[in-house]
Amino acid sequence: MSAPGRDGPRRSPRARGAGRSGPPRGRSGPARPPEPDLSRLAAFQLLVSVRVRDAYANLALPSILRRHRLRGRDAALATELGYGTLRARGLLDAVIEACSDRPLERVEPHLLDALRLGSYQLLRTRIPPHAAVATTVELVRAEAGSRAGGFVNAVLRRVGERDEAAWVAQLAPSAAEDPVGHAAFAHAHPRWIAQSFADALGKPADPADAELDAALAADDARPAVHLLARPGEITAAELALVTGGAEAPYSPYGVHLEAGSGDVAELDAVSEGLALVQDEGSQLVALALTRAELTGTDTGRWLDLCAGPGGKAALLGGLADLDGATLDAVEPSEHRAELVRRAVPELPVTVHQADGRSAPLPDAAFDRVLVDAPCSGLGALRRRPEARWRRQPSDVSALASLQRELLAAALRHVRPGGVVAYVTCSPHLAETVGVLTRVLRAHPEVQRLDARECLPGVPDLGDGPTVQLWPHRHGTDAMFLALLRRD
Ligand SMILES: C[S@@+](CC[C@H](N)C(=O)[O-])C[C@H]1O[C@@H](n2cnc3c(N)ncnc32)[C@H](O)[C@@H]1O
Repeated sequence: MSAPGRDGPRRSPRARGAGRSGPPRGRSGPARPPEPDLSRLAAFQLLVSVRVRDAYANLALPSILRRHRLRGRDAALATELGYGTLRARGLLDAVIEACSDRPLERVEPHLLDALRLGSYQLLRTRIPPHAAVATTVELVRAEAGSRAGGFVNAVLRRVGERDEAAWVAQLAPSAAEDPVGHAAFAHAHPRWIAQSFADALGKPADPADAELDAALAADDARPAVHLLARPGEITAAELALVTGGAEAPYSPYGVHLEAGSGDVAELDAVSEGLALVQDEGSQLVALALTRAELTGTDTGRWLDLCAGPGGKAALLGGLADLDGATLDAVEPSEHRAELVRRAVPELPVTVHQADGRSAPLPDAAFDRVLVDAPCSGLGALRRRPEARWRRQPSDVSALASLQRELLAAALRHVRPGGVVAYVTCSPHLAETVGVLTRVLRAHPEVQRLDARECLPGVPDLGDGPTVQLWPHRHGTDAMFLALLRRD
């Protein structure tokens, strides 16, 4: 992973000349510490805000960038450093601990944030080591004084004595004895998440098998932004042309932009409502529902039972419009229901603010029902830099009963001969096949369809009938899909 620019960031006007020490000529008074580089200051403030306020990085960053008037390359550098540091936290902490004369619990939290930021630059970017250390020390001096700066300087110099591979070789569990632990450490994932990937890949912890390594590496990389070309509004080819992106390999409505291609909201096609940000995997699972074969009379009624914030409702609503169908979209959160309304302007979509388990909708009435269940989101960690260190195993177990109840409600609403898509953006078996197995036990009238048949042209879909997409195989988030038909 590399940061933009080999020589570190261009310095902002405010920070230029900051290397001068002491007051301006002709004045007296104590020397003021130099002002820190603004891209690094922004990245540092992002780390603080994620730690102190439990902020979501993607929501906190835009206002931080605005506050410092960072745009273009400077904004890209701040984003890369902030997101990259958040992603790699576990790995960075292990290295920092090995280089510090005190345990991490005794390092002041804001100094630890700065150490993480400096270590990230040293281990995972091409920023020259002297620039990585000096800019971090400058930042700490400006924020916390020169003693703190001395401590950070000493630790970072030790961190910089080895590269990332050498630290992994020294600190990670042995690959032969604990392959999952080793892969987790090397690709900066909590062990339990790496284990859940290994379980979903279906491969026992075999040191000779590189797939877990590939899966975690892809999950650790900066992802490309994916756009959805709204059906009937713009084609993927047109969208690729106007955004400078490339048509997606599998979704006929998808476009991929290069990773780090700036503020997507500023693209004309997005601000004019012709396109929206949506992972290609999300597009594929929604498309699969529309392609599944129905039996009996098609009544043109579709249902999205967990619709907020409305990404898949926008795609399904657009396709329903072209198909002469309608979509009911259910979402219990007021704010998210409003986001769904905004995502489906002028489409044949009715939004209901309601709990999907007891929505005021008729039973046995819908041809196609999507349950995009609330889940741990372990399949979309690459898009949420801080999430992997925040999630806990208990998050998974807490959601399983809600997921089962929502799937049972979907099976109530679908008509005989209609199809339900059960979807999660998590590959964790407890949220995928675990939920299916328990619900289907109580529904002998439901059969699993082969979901692979509804994803023509997509390779490596396993043995079916369910589908697990993966970043390393498909370049998508790790979305799970099951298609069920009520007979
Ligand atoms: C994975 S998200 C859905 C994403 C959405 N389909 C999209 O593509 O934008 C799950 C949604 O389910 C909602 N949810 C939570 N509990 C629910 C319930 N009891 N009934 C229906 N939806 C629920 C959450 O608020 C969240 O918006």
